[in-house]
Amino acid sequence: MEKVALVTGSTSNMGKAIAEHLARQGFLVIVTSRHGEEAKAVAAALPHEGASFETDFADAQSIEWLFAFVREKFGRLDVLVNNVAYTKNESILECDLGTWEQTINTNLRSYFLCTKFAAEIMKMNGGGSVVNITVSAQSGSKDKFSYMVAKGGVNYLTQCAALDLAPFNIRVNAVGSGLVGTAVGYRDFSNRPYENPMLPAGHIGEPEDVAEAVAFLASERAKYIYGAMLAVDGGLNLVV
Ligand SMILES: NC(=O)c1ccc[n+]([C@@H]2O[C@H](COP(=O)([O-])OP(=O)(O)OC[C@H]3O[C@@H](n4cnc5c(N)ncnc54)[C@H](OP(=O)(O)O)[C@@H]3O)[C@@H](O)[C@H]2O)c1
Repeated sequence: MEKVALVTGSTSNMGKAIAEHLARQGFLVIVTSRHGEEAKAVAAALPHEGASFETDFADAQSIEWLFAFVREKFGRLDVLVNNVAYTKNESILECDLGTWEQTINTNLRSYFLCTKFAAEIMKMNGGGSVVNITVSAQSGSKDKFSYMVAKGGVNYLTQCAALDLAPFNIRVNAVGSGLVGTAVGYRDFSNRPYENPMLPAGHIGEPEDVAEAVAFLASERAKYIYGAMLAVDGGLNLVV
């Protein structure tokens, strides 16, 4: 039976690279975004047969429909990659309740709900793997209030879920990204030059760098890795 992988928010930058990488490894990848036609186009261009589902990850009902689709159409799920993110890049003083709810629901609550619903399916198939995309930074950032609070939550979510799900042969890990590809919410490089002397690597990362780490953690090659965060950041967390 073909293995099935679901990548949340997979029509651009890292999510798209992760979907393509897993498809190249033979997974049937389910591509998701709020824009169904875009998700369909990305899925159609995958190097291995894919599927798509229009999902708003800020909306709990929409996530339930996505997992009903996975259960009914495929009856299994081997890999979940929680990648979706939204940011308004606001300070705590600029963060109103609407911004807080949009960010926390998209970037943290969806990681909880998707992991829980995925685990219910994976349990029935004897196990699986969840990879959460977080930041490599180990401390807070200025003017990224709700986004960084959510990422802090994702880090503990990874560890707690790893403990709770280990008895079911479900491994939960994270990839901590640095500056990779385009900035979150952007589709171009206009505010992010490739060369960056502040980074030990000297330049920002490629989405494929993150995809490679995700594919490793999701695979059997990482079978003894539980609740870890693998930094893929060109050394950023060593200098900030
Ligand atoms: N880019 C970086 O340098 C960087 C650095 C550190 C960590 N990260 C992390 O890496 C991950 C990927 O970031 P990225 O830069 O690749 O992000 P991105 O290019 O902004 O892509 C986000 C994806 O999520 C989708 N999306 C956003 N809100 C959604 C919602 N409510 N429901 C469904 N889909 C939604 C977007 O598609 P639609 O808008 O069409 O729905 C898009 O496919 C995130 O977890 C981010 O926090 C990124």
